[in-house]
Amino acid sequence: MDGHHDEPRAQFKHMEEGTAEDWKIIGQAFGGFAKELPDRVITHLQLLEGDCGGFPVDRLTHCLQTATLAHRDGQDEEYVVCALLHDIGDTLGPYNHADVGAALLEPFVSEENHWMVKHHAIFQGYYFFEHLGLDPELREKYRDHPCFDRTVEFCAKYDAAAFDPEQETLPLSFFEPMLRRVMAKPKRSLYKNKLDADQQEQRQTA
Ligand SMILES: [Fe+2]
Ligand SMILES: [Fe+2]
Repeated sequence: MDGHHDEPRAQFKHMEEGTAEDWKIIGQAFGGFAKELPDRVITHLQLLEGDCGGFPVDRLTHCLQTATLAHRDGQDEEYVVCALLHDIGDTLGPYNHADVGAALLEPFVSEENHWMVKHHAIFQGYYFFEHLGLDPELREKYRDHPCFDRTVEFCAKYDAAAFDPEQETLPLSFFEPMLRRVMAKPKRSLYKNKLDADQQEQRQTA
């Protein structure tokens, strides 16, 4: 299970025993682990391939097509990456997939884009909740929210429109560089101060 036997490890058994040296080891390991995030995201996105769930296209194609539509419509890179990952939570969060995707994106995107991804499932329900015995107007409770129109537009132009097997769908490799750039450095994180300090130190020693 553990393929990292040779790496230095902290010595504590309970965190209350942790020393500065322990946390230096952990901090150093984190840098490499964090850099590999885009690779793990891509691997996870690929899990959506081949799983249609009854929809006209598989979940990966839907994500790629949503991103393609947003990109072709002139949306910026961060928005396109949100479009690409908006349904990445389908596998682990079938009951709250929008929350999973939003949590993954939150450190790297604007509050507006995060809100849009987090609420897209309720907004998308406008198109089908009536068929499930739910209220298609559920999103109306957010009518006065500053991101209401943004999220309506995301669903209308990209998400709801991305179920066409005949429509142009750019490959994952096209979006990979964008994903890597957007996820290169968090804008918001509990650990942001520490990460900024580490980066400064790296620059000084380089
Ligand atoms: Fe969704
Ligand atoms: Fe979707």
